[in-house]
Amino acid sequence: MISTKSAAMYDRACKVIPGGVNSATRRLVRPMAWDWAEGAYVRDVDGNTYLDYHAAFGPIVLGHNHPLVNRAAADAMQGVDMVGVGVLESEIRLAEKVVEHVPSADMVLTFSTGSEATYMAVRLARGVTGRPKLIKFQGTFHGWHDYLLMNVITPAEKIGKKDPGCAGQLAEAIDNTIVCRFNDLDSVEQAIEANRGEIAAIFLEAIPHNIGCVLPTRAFVQGLRDLCDAHGIILVFDEVITGFRHAVGGYQSKIGIKPDVTTMAKAMAKGYPCAVVAGRRDLMMQFNTAPGGRVFVGGTYNGHPVGAAAALATIGLLEDGTVHERLFGLGEMASKGLQEIADRLGIKMQVGAYGSIFTPYFMDGRIERYEDLLANDTAKDIAFRQGMVDRGIFMLPMPLKRNHISAAHTRADVERTLDVAETVLKTLV
Ligand SMILES: Cc1ncc(COP(=O)(O)O)c(C=O)c1O
Repeated sequence: MISTKSAAMYDRACKVIPGGVNSATRRLVRPMAWDWAEGAYVRDVDGNTYLDYHAAFGPIVLGHNHPLVNRAAADAMQGVDMVGVGVLESEIRLAEKVVEHVPSADMVLTFSTGSEATYMAVRLARGVTGRPKLIKFQGTFHGWHDYLLMNVITPAEKIGKKDPGCAGQLAEAIDNTIVCRFNDLDSVEQAIEANRGEIAAIFLEAIPHNIGCVLPTRAFVQGLRDLCDAHGIILVFDEVITGFRHAVGGYQSKIGIKPDVTTMAKAMAKGYPCAVVAGRRDLMMQFNTAPGGRVFVGGTYNGHPVGAAAALATIGLLEDGTVHERLFGLGEMASKGLQEIADRLGIKMQVGAYGSIFTPYFMDGRIERYEDLLANDTAKDIAFRQGMVDRGIFMLPMPLKRNHISAAHTRADVERTLDVAETVLKTLV
């Protein structure tokens, strides 16, 4: 693939943007710059077109540049743009939609990004319980703020230890976040026992999609629910990825277990900035947007009309369930197809999959948590992805990253993907 223009743009970017990109996980070994996206396809500035499975890390659930969502976003600026005091019709309608669909949502606050939403959920849990500590799980990601940026892609030698994600993170933030093993209720019980009366919240990425696609057992999630009830701990489902992508009611509507608080973003507004914190009325009323609430909420762009309009249009297109039905069908076709090819070629690979998300892992053995993924053959993983990219199928060339199918993908797209995958996998035998 020719990439001279991408390289030139990247050089230009590097002069004024640290590292040439605006988010750390956007930096690629072979720099790429883009100038067009539509439906299931993206094109770089050199004119190479790719079938997109990256989906901008998840939001693109309906395909790129969906005309109805774009129209709704553009129309939002026609009547009232921003006043920044009081409330707009679109903010109320969005909150009503979330309450209608998401089982645990009695009330809703709207922000712009997932990190803001998880940060606010942390603050709410601490404010309500008066307790300092949080539990998260090895391999989960909840955004860029100090409180939860720990132990995501942890090297083997640091498993079981604190693995902060950033220089300058306050020691107090690191000390107050306890990392447990996913799908291991004993590790959670022990942490609660060792920190009696100090745990404010358990944060669960219900499916840890930040390490691909590792499924929780129902017993594990129910066990967390029971432990939280028994110990007065707030259970937070971080559905920033799973919300609206797997069902309009989120993963909680699939597994049938309700958290106290939910965070959602990404797919809910199909690429426009919009995120929510939703939860039990008695908890949500502790935010100081309500009279007497003591948990501060602010944000110039909270409930922004463009994000809210895009979210309403997206939800409108998702709510009858037919899109999800199609996404699940295509997801199954992709994951089963890949698995069949790898098995036939005798390649050690297993596909983690749920709905429209699938991730090939180059390893044998059970996959129940991040620690198991240390057996993944990273070199093969990257070689496979880069081989796909080189042949026009964009799968983020970084290990363990998930692939997303959008409503714009077709069966023919998936068939072509499998053909290309077979060619690439043959080079890895
Ligand atoms: C599960 C989860 N929570 C929170 C976030 C943070 O969202 P944002 O990047 O919109 O701040 C992410 C981002 O990838 C995420 O995957």
